[in-house]
Amino acid sequence: MPTAPRKFFVTTALPYANGPFHIGHIMEYIQADVWVRYQRMRGHEMHFVCADDTHGAPIMLKAEKDGVTPKALVARVAATRRKSLDGFHLSFDFWHSTDSPENVALSQDIYRRLKARGLVYAKSIEQFFDPVKSMFLPDRYVKGTCPVCGTRDQYGDACENCSSTYNAIELIDPYSTLTGAKPEVRSSEHLFFRLSAPEVAAYLKRWTAEPSPGRTLQPEVRNKVKEWLIDGDLADWDISRDAPYFGIPIPDAPGKYFYVWLDAPVGYLASLEAHLAKTGVDFARFLEDPALEQYHFIGKDIVYFHTLFWPAMMEFAGKPYRPPDNVYVHGFITFQNEKMSKSRGTGISPEVYLDLGLDAEWLRYYLATKLNDRVEDIDFNPDDFVARVNSDLVGKYVNIASRAATFITRHFDGELSLRNPDAAHFKERAGSTHVAWASRALIEEAYEAREFGKVVREAMRIADRVNERFDQAKPWELAKRDDAESRARLQDVCTDALNAFRALSYYLAPIAPTLAQRAAALFGIPRELAWDEIEQVADRIGAYTHLMTRIDPKKVEALIGLSASPAPSPAGGGASPPSAAAPSPSPPPASGSARTAQAAPASGKGSPDATRAQDATISIDDFAKVDLRIARIVSAEPVDGADKLVRLTLDAGESRHRTVFAGIKSAYRPEDLVGRLTPMVANLAPRKMRFGVSEGMVLAASGEGPGIYLLAPDNGAAPGMKVK
Ligand code: 2FM
Ligand code: ZN
Repeated sequence: MPTAPRKFFVTTALPYANGPFHIGHIMEYIQADVWVRYQRMRGHEMHFVCADDTHGAPIMLKAEKDGVTPKALVARVAATRRKSLDGFHLSFDFWHSTDSPENVALSQDIYRRLKARGLVYAKSIEQFFDPVKSMFLPDRYVKGTCPVCGTRDQYGDACENCSSTYNAIELIDPYSTLTGAKPEVRSSEHLFFRLSAPEVAAYLKRWTAEPSPGRTLQPEVRNKVKEWLIDGDLADWDISRDAPYFGIPIPDAPGKYFYVWLDAPVGYLASLEAHLAKTGVDFARFLEDPALEQYHFIGKDIVYFHTLFWPAMMEFAGKPYRPPDNVYVHGFITFQNEKMSKSRGTGISPEVYLDLGLDAEWLRYYLATKLNDRVEDIDFNPDDFVARVNSDLVGKYVNIASRAATFITRHFDGELSLRNPDAAHFKERAGSTHVAWASRALIEEAYEAREFGKVVREAMRIADRVNERFDQAKPWELAKRDDAESRARLQDVCTDALNAFRALSYYLAPIAPTLAQRAAALFGIPRELAWDEIEQVADRIGAYTHLMTRIDPKKVEALIGLSASPAPSPAGGGASPPSAAAPSPSPPPASGSARTAQAAPASGKGSPDATRAQDATISIDDFAKVDLRIARIVSAEPVDGADKLVRLTLDAGESRHRTVFAGIKSAYRPEDLVGRLTPMVANLAPRKMRFGVSEGMVLAASGEGPGIYLLAPDNGAAPGMKVK
């Protein structure tokens, strides 16, 4: 049933521009992309945009460490984006940057409007200042002894031992994690957005109860928001940061910049504006269209920013700005039910996935089987991944076409029953096709509700029925008979299966778009698939070409092995990027009185200021935790199915040898390594890999370009010696 065209503005969360995408980003983009593609297939107007989130202290500090300007760092990371976006078939209409003229103008305009309504005020606050770096320290760059329980080396906002929250300046024996210096308490004037204003609080209660007519937040999100809004008082939000800061200057406030979380969501609008400008569409008029629906796909760690700050900013900035119609929140992606961690060797890297030539649509399909409208973590399990794709997607769906098309090509020169006047009653006899068509409403509902797991389950239920009916008809026996009746029956059976397959291809197209396109080509459909064509019937097929191969489990083993190995990343970082890479629960509410000066979310874990920056210094105690020892390479051999790995047997002066898998095959022939001495991390938790357990890590240097260089001690070092 055709529906009136809708008009959408859809975004995914903007990734920090300090490193390549991690699998959590890609999962979110796939979730949104499937939904977006479905809406496009329905004929709706879609504007699907994103951008790099470029501002904040961690990016500034990382740039400094890398010896480049923040703009150069951001440009370097931006240059890596296209490969993954294209590689995973993500159909963003535009990808922009928060460091753009549009974002500067929009952020400043929104700020001025909020200020004109009396919702911005200035107040002096006391904060730690690093005298060596000459900068105020975000809480996460200060450590010290917990004022409550006395545990050492706790971050500036909360104690990991006793969970107390406090103001950073209450820490005992504080030190800057950037320089080790003892920070000074200095006061500085900050600007605050008056979230506690009665009209703002009242509006947020309304928005969170019903973000737009007839829509509600997901139940888990709603409950969380209720706690913040009803059980806690909203603290005013600290929206300014002092120089030096990589951010957008605040008008009429020299030396002050917007806190990154103010201009980040404005980046949604900046990207939209730049996208619309390409086609000459008026941005303000577009936003003011009451028919427009605006949705943000986000992770559960940034709900606070999107359900409180963002709607309030938009509402009180006034037209043409508008609060979103809803936010769609997802959980994190885990690896075999554990948090992904590159350093612990658990996880998968999207870059390695593409580099190994794994088909993007395997991952899209697998994630779709798990995605729903709840805020649940979803798990990547390698065996399950292989099984779902090989047994279901290829074994059930692709299988229908490969079997039926072979008979039609061989015996009927590509003609389906509908070309045959004797088969005028095909439609009545087309049981499988009707089975497929009958699920259309259910699949539409599931797509709309982001219940992609349901879509896939229904598609596979249909595929099972189609395969069963096909087998029951025993086409291989019909093909052996010469009589006209058997021939007609064979053609009908295959026609029926192929038309059911045709409908299934439409159902799966948002999830596996290029696979569906190849399937459609079999029926001579050369362009984008439109949902309303589902019930058209094909009357001939072209030559059958192979649609999709099965996953070779060895490739998945390699994916896991290499994702964990110390391969250099394009941004040069070895550690996971912050935020979603190291998923953390939603930031706590800005809990009223005691902490009004620096509202908790401003330094919450979802923010870059909160990131335990890769650049931060560590204490000597931290370093001492790493047990570095000299080891001799006793043997080295290639690993089947892992192009980049070498299996090393190491003698570290212990009673037994250790096995370590190292990603150094591109640089060394295994046989050349035997006998060498090298430092190893001896107390790394053993990591189970497909090829065996890795019991440590050898150390190698690498830079931006190719080349990996194993470290070696000077003459005289011996196995078992400690490196200090
Ligand atoms: O948490 C993050 O990774 C942020 N960069 C998300 C920003 S979303 C939006 F507000 F820009
Ligand atoms: Zn404590």
